[in-house]
Amino acid sequence: MAAHQNRFHFGNGFFSPQFPHHTQILYKLCLDFHICFCYTVSIIKSIKERICMKIAILYDSATGNTAYLAEALHKAYPDAALCTPDTCSVTDADCVLLGFWTDKGTCSDKLKAVLPELSGKKVFLFGTAGFGASDSYFSQLIDRVKAELPADCQVMGWYMCAGRMGEGVRRRYEQMCENPETREKGEMLLRNFEAAAAHPNADDAAALVERCRAALG
Ligand SMILES: Cc1cc2nc3c(=O)[nH]c(=O)nc-3n(C[C@H](O)[C@H](O)[C@H](O)COP(=O)(O)O)c2cc1C
Repeated sequence: MAAHQNRFHFGNGFFSPQFPHHTQILYKLCLDFHICFCYTVSIIKSIKERICMKIAILYDSATGNTAYLAEALHKAYPDAALCTPDTCSVTDADCVLLGFWTDKGTCSDKLKAVLPELSGKKVFLFGTAGFGASDSYFSQLIDRVKAELPADCQVMGWYMCAGRMGEGVRRRYEQMCENPETREKGEMLLRNFEAAAAHPNADDAAALVERCRAALG
């Protein structure tokens, strides 16, 4: 058979003219079947991993803001264990939804103390902060909390929003406004205080759940 008559002619290998045409077709079918089989197996494996993934929600909250977000996640993942550093361990979980409140630029010491338990796990971070004006600020906070995690954690994603602060903080800012030297800063902080007072709210909770679902697949 002339080379140009053989549609599987790729040189001198298996698809060269010395192999019969039907053997080449059979070989190609086997190859296609093998590729389809491997692909299907990998899809089934990843679906199974997602369905069987054990999730735990571990959070710390001093005044209730982060607890509100944790509750929203628990409604979305009702089978997940819901715990605080005081109440349970996350040893059995494959994936931990880790909630923190911002304490001097990072997560609380109480939460830091249980982070070694997250070794080898998937982690989705969520948190609240008194200063919630920009994503770049949130991003810095997230980087600091990530740095506290064991090195072998796989961070799947994160979500942060503002969280209202206590009345004592407002009084401090109001006092700053009474002093001409600190008035400008005090006014800026008061504006931020008022903006944060509306958070976290139902929209924040919905955005968190959406972000988490997208991250975990
Ligand atoms: C002691 C203390 C330190 C805080 N430090 C920060 C901070 O560094 N940055 C920030 O944005 N918010 C800070 N906040 C504000 C809280 O992170 C914010 O109000 C948070 O939503 C509280 O969450 P929770 O109600 O879950 O405790 C601080 C609050 C307190 C009481």
